Amino acid sequence: MNIKKLQFIILFLFLPILSIAQDHNCGTHQPNFTGKNMNKFQLHQIQELELFTQKWIAKNKNKASIREIITIPVVVHIVWNTPADNFTDLEIEAQIDALTADFRKMNENTTSIPASFQSLAADVEIEFCLATVYEGKETNGIVRKETSLTGIGNLYHSDNRRRICYDDLGGSSAWEPEDYINIWVGQLGLLGEATFPGMADTKYEDGVFIDPSAFGFFCSSSSNYVLGRTLTHEMGHFFNLYHIWGENGCTIDDLVMDTPMQNVSSSGCPLHPQVSCGSDDMFMNFMDYTDDRCMAMFTKGQKMRMLAALDTFPRESLKISDGCARSIIKNITLTPDDILLFPNPATDCIHIDLDLENDLPIRMAIYDTKGREIYSNHIFAKDLRTFNISNISNGIYFIYFESNGQVASKKLIIDK
Ligand code: ARG
Ligand code: ZN
Ligand code: CA
Repeated sequence: MNIKKLQFIILFLFLPILSIAQDHNCGTHQPNFTGKNMNKFQLHQIQELELFTQKWIAKNKNKASIREIITIPVVVHIVWNTPADNFTDLEIEAQIDALTADFRKMNENTTSIPASFQSLAADVEIEFCLATVYEGKETNGIVRKETSLTGIGNLYHSDNRRRICYDDLGGSSAWEPEDYINIWVGQLGLLGEATFPGMADTKYEDGVFIDPSAFGFFCSSSSNYVLGRTLTHEMGHFFNLYHIWGENGCTIDDLVMDTPMQNVSSSGCPLHPQVSCGSDDMFMNFMDYTDDRCMAMFTKGQKMRMLAALDTFPRESLKISDGCARSIIKNITLTPDDILLFPNPATDCIHIDLDLENDLPIRMAIYDTKGREIYSNHIFAKDLRTFNISNISNGIYFIYFESNGQVASKKLIIDK
């Protein structure tokens, strides 16, 4: 019997006893096949969703290469209780750009993917943008609410509404979930949580929840969770991905064909190879539990599941949302004034923001004073990006941007 058939049968044997699980650092209610806690409605939902997903994948498996990039508007609700829970606009932009980088296989650590997994790593071809339009008005896609409630992320009103999702309950109300992915940042007591497609009690509580301790991209922090990957992981759940180990043991995995069967979750930053269930663990997958710096990939199989999820309500209409519409094309030529580079002098990371409102890819390169190329990468004009430069030594450099035949450069000083 081939593997695909086997998986299909496993799937249908176990679907009737799917349940909801929660564990210490993952708040996401992952249906985990153990047979407790799921109400009839949710059970039905998840079965329908899996049927749909498997059919969608079977139908689309040969079309993987002809897709267009999907750009999805997001709104970030910062529901802060202590000042430490608040974030600057730039920090929020950097987090959303890091999320896009992970989904576009443009993350800084793709080279850490072991050779045997390299060919499985996927450009998911989904990008995320902070909303620019809301109810016909310009916005930066960020809502800030101060709340007096500690641990608001896990508080529910007596009518069962989740407080963080409503203005009148001390939180911040969802923007239309058909047009925006709602990302709530507030005290959760765990790193993050997300709703699976169709599993939220109401669409106004559909979205992603991130604890302030695990939000943002801060390349010089000592925390294990601040390279933005809790959001990447939760976005995986939001698009119907399960944890890579499925449930503990070597019989049921994540319903993805190209991820290896894995016994238990991984943690910390293991060295490859780690073997379980007779194969190397893909502990560097975004859907494992390793530290942010060691997570590096989604697989092509996970990509298919996510694209299938994007054909379900209320995810489907996200693809055609104009929440990131650009009303005015501001600037199409590149000049040094359009380059925001900080900090400069820099120590271990630089943030780059180009005030250039086109969607063309831009080559970026750092040269030393002798004209030797030290670093190069591709970015998109509309993205703010953070680059780790900790292994470039002190000195004066020139950072070049080249797009569509135009070049602009700036001096960069590295001084640790
Ligand atoms: N455990 C959390 C969850 O499953 C998130 C884990 C994120 N891991 C990380 N390195 N950021 O929802
Ligand atoms: Zn998770
Ligand atoms: Ca698998």
